[in-house]
Amino acid sequence: MAHLEVVQPSGPPPVWPALRAEAERTAGQEPALASLLYAAVLSHELLVDALAFQLARKLGDGELNAMSVRDICWQAFYGDPEAMTRVEADLQAVFERDPACKGYLQPFLYFKGFQALQTHRVAHWLWSQGRETLAFHLQSRMSELFQVDIHPAARVGSGVFLDHGTGITVGETAVIGDDVSILHAVTLGGTGAQRGDRHPKIGRGVLLGAGAKVLGAIEIGEGAKIASGSVVLRPVPPHCTAAGVPARLVGCPPGAEPSRTMDHTLAEVVYDYVI
Ligand SMILES: CC(C)(COP(=O)(O)OP(=O)(O)OC[C@H]1O[C@@H](n2cnc3c(N)ncnc32)[C@H](O)[C@@H]1OP(=O)(O)O)[C@@H](O)C(=O)NCCC(=O)NCCS
Repeated sequence: MAHLEVVQPSGPPPVWPALRAEAERTAGQEPALASLLYAAVLSHELLVDALAFQLARKLGDGELNAMSVRDICWQAFYGDPEAMTRVEADLQAVFERDPACKGYLQPFLYFKGFQALQTHRVAHWLWSQGRETLAFHLQSRMSELFQVDIHPAARVGSGVFLDHGTGITVGETAVIGDDVSILHAVTLGGTGAQRGDRHPKIGRGVLLGAGAKVLGAIEIGEGAKIASGSVVLRPVPPHCTAAGVPARLVGCPPGAEPSRTMDHTLAEVVYDYVI
């Protein structure tokens, strides 16, 4: 008799049910956190409401209170039909790529990189609506609270992982593609010699190692890997690794997808020339 094969769904679990289940479990284990978990997660029907509450709780202050921040977050999340898909992809990116991450609750409540990225998404929506001063206000709060400074005009794709967050700096005309992973102290900046379009364009699936400085309106190709501490001043071809100050190509392994695997090692095929 033929047996039906049970196919397990692949990929990370759906975000909102898993996040609620984690919050319920944790509230039972840590009664001291129960009221936070109720307020931030369990009292909400939808992820969008939980996230708006969480950002408001963090970003609100005497200058712009939490109720106002929550209202602005709602406007941004409901104003862009793709917004919550990106949020879910960002949470799944942390869960899949950060070996220190045990679930969705940890980044949702505590990871500076995730919270800064969601603040940027709200600021970028405000920027797209011509509400520049309010966008700068959120950028300023993001920088104060999370030590992440992303200009509100910078375009950031979906499924992006900012690991640790501290010191990440992204300029006005930078573009970050889908599925990119960025470690702490990365700068996507200008050289100081250009005006207008002057910041890097980071392709899909790129891994930017800790402390890497990518300067100028240069393209980092899809699936490329930039070693920690590098200063990159020239374009990097897709699926190649650049390292050093100034950076040179050190390898181009076929089929690399470094931002997902978080493989920080240098490639084996060595090209000893400056890019
Ligand atoms: C140094 C700097 C000002 C460029 O000066 P420049 O005189 O225009 O220099 P060039 O781009 O012509 O490069 C000259 C040489 O210095 C090297 N170089 C340039 N910037 C470098 C850097 N930051 N680190 C190491 N080497 C660098 C170049 O590779 C080049 O080497 P080569 O002659 O062997 O090819 C610029 O690259 C820089 O670092 N600016 C600061 C940018 C910054 O901090 N941005 C962050 C904004 S948030």
